[in-house]
Amino acid sequence: MSIAVKLGNLELRTPLIGASGLFGYGDGYRDLIGFDLFGAVVTKTITLKERQGNHGPRLVDVGFGLINSIGLENIGIDRFLDEVLPSLDLNTCLFVSIGGFGVDEYAEIAKRLDCVTGIDALEVNISCPNVSDGGIAFGSNARLTAEVISSVRENTKLPIIAKLPPLTVGIEVIVKAAQDAGAQALTLANTYPAMAIDIDSERPSLGAISGGLSGRAIKPLTLLLVWKAYTVAKIPIIASGGVEDSRDCIEYLLAGASACEIGSIMLRDLDAPLRIVHGIKNFIRTHGYRDIGELLGKAHRKEERSETKEI
Ligand SMILES: Cc1cc2nc3c(=O)[nH]c(=O)nc-3n(C[C@H](O)[C@H](O)[C@H](O)COP(=O)(O)O)c2cc1C
Repeated sequence: MSIAVKLGNLELRTPLIGASGLFGYGDGYRDLIGFDLFGAVVTKTITLKERQGNHGPRLVDVGFGLINSIGLENIGIDRFLDEVLPSLDLNTCLFVSIGGFGVDEYAEIAKRLDCVTGIDALEVNISCPNVSDGGIAFGSNARLTAEVISSVRENTKLPIIAKLPPLTVGIEVIVKAAQDAGAQALTLANTYPAMAIDIDSERPSLGAISGGLSGRAIKPLTLLLVWKAYTVAKIPIIASGGVEDSRDCIEYLLAGASACEIGSIMLRDLDAPLRIVHGIKNFIRTHGYRDIGELLGKAHRKEERSETKEI
């Protein structure tokens, strides 16, 4: 049974996408599990210059999720283009995640990646802090969202997926700003600001004090963002947040997502992609659907309620 989905002009073989930061530069896990079950894989976020990232500890397991403070460690755009991309041999779509600390940096990276073969889309990570605007995340405000997405749009013909931070002035406003500026899809959402304290050392668990919460705990929060975004979005939505099994993915599809990323679960269960794809197929079969597309946004339909008369 085919569970291929459309993401704008892209056809993904399944609705499952490997999330940024968990699959290296697109090749992570490839030799362990292959990518047959994935519609696409996203690279970790690449910046203009190489970055060492934050001091450790950089990852803490809080039981219901993970808090990470990797600090955008990456090899930079030059080394990605020279050393990684030429030998990447994926049998699925490749989305390159890009980040920057100023609008010019996003524009420059987009320009460098334009017309490079082997890239299917750019996922623009707009959770990065804008240094010339007091360090607030680009995606936390409509003006900055529009500026950064327009600057990428002007410098590439590749499809643009805007990956939004979760905590904004109002997700609908940011969704509209991103789509009006030229994004062709949205990823909702990045991790949620969080911290943990180690009661033995009586100090913050992470070297950077705070980080981003991912995993099981954030699924209901991001589900609401997807639900709200779907009410205003004219472009496809990719859900990213706490997908651990097929049920999570189906909920996201019903809320309005066209595809789902999986991230943190890969650190615990390499069989997750197989479980999820089997579970989705099973749901479609047992519920009598002909096509996975019939699930898209279905939870938004208006019920015809029978009037109950009070006596
Ligand atoms: C260790 C780790 C590193 C991450 N690195 C990035 C990154 O470089 N860029 C990005 O946009 N998101 C990054 N994320 C966020 C994930 O792509 C994903 O949006 C988030 O973890 C929610 O999905 P999950 O609950 O399935 O993990 C990272 C997450 C984790 C756990």
